[in-house]
Amino acid sequence: MTKEPPPEAVKKFSIVKRQPVFFRQNWVEIDKSDFHFNLKKIREYLAKDTKIMPVIKANAYGHGGAVLAKEAQRAGVSYAAVSSLEEGIEFRSAGIKMNILVLDAIFPPENLQVAIAHNLTPSVSKMSAVLALEDLAVRLNKKLNFHFEIDTGMGRVGARPEEAYSILQKIAQTPEISMTGMFTHFSVADTDPVFTRAQRESFAKIVKYAKNLGLKFIAHAANSAALFKDKRTHLDMVRPGISLYGLSPFKYAERLVKLKPVLSWKARITAIKRVPAGFCVSYGRTFVTSRESLIATIPVGYADGYSRQLSNKADVLVRGKRCPIAGRVTMDMTMIDVTGIKGVSCGDEVALIGVQGKEQIKVDELAKIQDTINYEVTCAISQRVPRIVV
Ligand SMILES: Cc1ncc(COP(=O)(O)O)c(C=O)c1O
Repeated sequence: MTKEPPPEAVKKFSIVKRQPVFFRQNWVEIDKSDFHFNLKKIREYLAKDTKIMPVIKANAYGHGGAVLAKEAQRAGVSYAAVSSLEEGIEFRSAGIKMNILVLDAIFPPENLQVAIAHNLTPSVSKMSAVLALEDLAVRLNKKLNFHFEIDTGMGRVGARPEEAYSILQKIAQTPEISMTGMFTHFSVADTDPVFTRAQRESFAKIVKYAKNLGLKFIAHAANSAALFKDKRTHLDMVRPGISLYGLSPFKYAERLVKLKPVLSWKARITAIKRVPAGFCVSYGRTFVTSRESLIATIPVGYADGYSRQLSNKADVLVRGKRCPIAGRVTMDMTMIDVTGIKGVSCGDEVALIGVQGKEQIKVDELAKIQDTINYEVTCAISQRVPRIVV
């Protein structure tokens, strides 16, 4: 018969009070105070009347969208950007009252109704979308707000500058709709000041033209990199994403501004075995012990977003020490070499991303191994990993 675990053990393993209940020992911790710290640091960079629109799309870059949107709201922020209608609807259901801009092009145009029904502000960049919005405004007998996006060099969505002028004329002649914002997005603010300047100047010309048509709106352009690199990009409002989460928007950004990573990824050791030299670990038998070793297993795999590319390359932290990944990361479990870690045992906390003692595994460290950017590492942490707010 299985015995009930002693109350102490239950306490140790029920990780956080008032949080999602979970049994698999693999979770992400989101530090609210670090998010507020970063928001404050960013605000210090801005002129007093420059607004801020946190980019809380893609589940806040994997951090937990609604939770951080609420924190931004609590900090007095009145704008937020999401990517899709679904994300905007989720925020509304969570009681977020801020102005929410949907960055994706809304398609098909009938979906504009969904945006309006949930009080979400659509981004518009085509004449056909302006006409669809006008039509909807007439049908609903309601003035409808939107932001107009200009493609000054991103090549994604947005009206090209040469088409923008005629669309703006139409907007100015259509009282049923209101362009409350106009924006562009920088493609190389992190690396190329010359091209960014050209984008900025191209946008400024269109802003001037729109103002001369009598339109009143908020102009915004700066992502995190532009925000820290060039104050001339700030305009009426900035749109930071990655920096709010305490991650670096460009190489050596920490020399300019010290931010605090909001996310830590943790697990617990669920199995340990002592194995002889010459023992092979995981699929493909790519890891062979060179000595008698202690191999521990953690319940984290590529289905959690811990990339298979980290196999045999990344480290994790156990008892404040770096331990290498042993063999291939599997779908749900990963092995680590904990040989020589004094007292190591089942239940020990493991940091995949985060700090233990004097050691730290940074998102950038994993991104480098995976040959990608920090954005992708946190966005990839899958939904099945519980997000715990601390
Ligand atoms: C349109 C738009 N604005 C702002 C941002 C925020 O950029 P960052 O996370 O680099 O600050 C993004 C992010 O991809 C974006 O797509």
